[in-house]
Amino acid sequence: MNAPQPSGLRWPAATNAVPKAIFDDPALFERELEAIFYGPEWHPVAVTGELPRKGDFKTIHVGRRPLLIVRGDDDQLRVFYNACAHRGTLLETRFCGNRPEFECPYHRWLFDDQGRLRGAPGRDDFSPSFSTDDFGLTQLRSADFGGLLFVTMSPAAPSLEQFLGRIGPALRTALGGDGRLGLLGYQKVVYDTNWKAYVDNDGYHPPLLHKAFKMLNWQGGAGTQYATERGHVVIEAELKLPDNPGFLRDPSLLEFRQAHRSKGSVAVVISPLTVITMHLDMINIRFAIPRAVGKTEVHYGYFHHLDDDPDMIRHRLRQAGNMLGPSGLVSIEDAAIFHRIQAGNRTPGNALFQKGVHDEHALWFDFKQNDEAGNMPRWEWYRKAMGFVRDEA
Ligand code: FES
Ligand SMILES: [Fe+2]
Repeated sequence: MNAPQPSGLRWPAATNAVPKAIFDDPALFERELEAIFYGPEWHPVAVTGELPRKGDFKTIHVGRRPLLIVRGDDDQLRVFYNACAHRGTLLETRFCGNRPEFECPYHRWLFDDQGRLRGAPGRDDFSPSFSTDDFGLTQLRSADFGGLLFVTMSPAAPSLEQFLGRIGPALRTALGGDGRLGLLGYQKVVYDTNWKAYVDNDGYHPPLLHKAFKMLNWQGGAGTQYATERGHVVIEAELKLPDNPGFLRDPSLLEFRQAHRSKGSVAVVISPLTVITMHLDMINIRFAIPRAVGKTEVHYGYFHHLDDDPDMIRHRLRQAGNMLGPSGLVSIEDAAIFHRIQAGNRTPGNALFQKGVHDEHALWFDFKQNDEAGNMPRWEWYRKAMGFVRDEA
């Protein structure tokens, strides 16, 4: 007996199979926004070090909902809907900046950096029940873990620590240990791909897809991969530097200056959609926004540690922009693959994982570093979150 499926499709019995139809279904995308992005998950929205001063703000979206993050004059970070409390006009249009107050252009209602309504022209003529106390900006539940600020829109979300589970220590490492980070800059890109295809990455492909891995004879090194029931994934590995990167005009591009770190590469995927990598001396956080069923916007943020000297900051900046990101030496081919997955998955049938799959009807959480099977727990979490019922074997 097979239960009816939300989109009329069948979810295969095998744990290593995913129906291709879920990558290109506009109705399903709408349901994902409600169930996942506005549901009981936590979403990273900023590094606290991006907003170091009182009055600093940043805007971002979770799903289609615009958010405004502000450090108030009491030094607290708050996350609000970026919408005026009067009739809902988008309050702030810039990506980031510093201001003590936010004035809506429509009727000039004025909010302070704690979201309180401070002024509303013509209020003598407002309804009798009007009170400024009732018209502050809507604040969302937020929490900081290791310098990364998360938000959730659902009271049903567990505590952030529970949500993260066993990935906590690796996440702290990837965030520089103590989370005292400063922003180097962003690269932003929109991929013509579904958000699930974007995040469905693996350690199997790099030496096969990425030309630079071959040119550098970059073999990786010993490592581990593990996942959680919510679909978070951690891959930690040594990075064995190539012996002779002589073809590079500037071989310092490949220098690894933090000798105290035994793992040259730590990658953390926070389900549903955030990727954090610390490769060599790069600290890279990819905030991603599902814009439409076939469009995913990614903000590649690059960071330095606050204790870095100017030379280390220059080194991190040079490495960040040149190595990783949408035009990075070791990642530039990813964009083409994201687009091709979206195009190719408009065909019938299932997408199948193979590397590291030793049982097609089981689920497990520890993997070899180059297994693509590390994505399977996230697919199982997704299937349950969306109410798909697995076919019987
Ligand atoms: S909608 Fe903002 S002041 Fe009226
Ligand atoms: Fe890649």
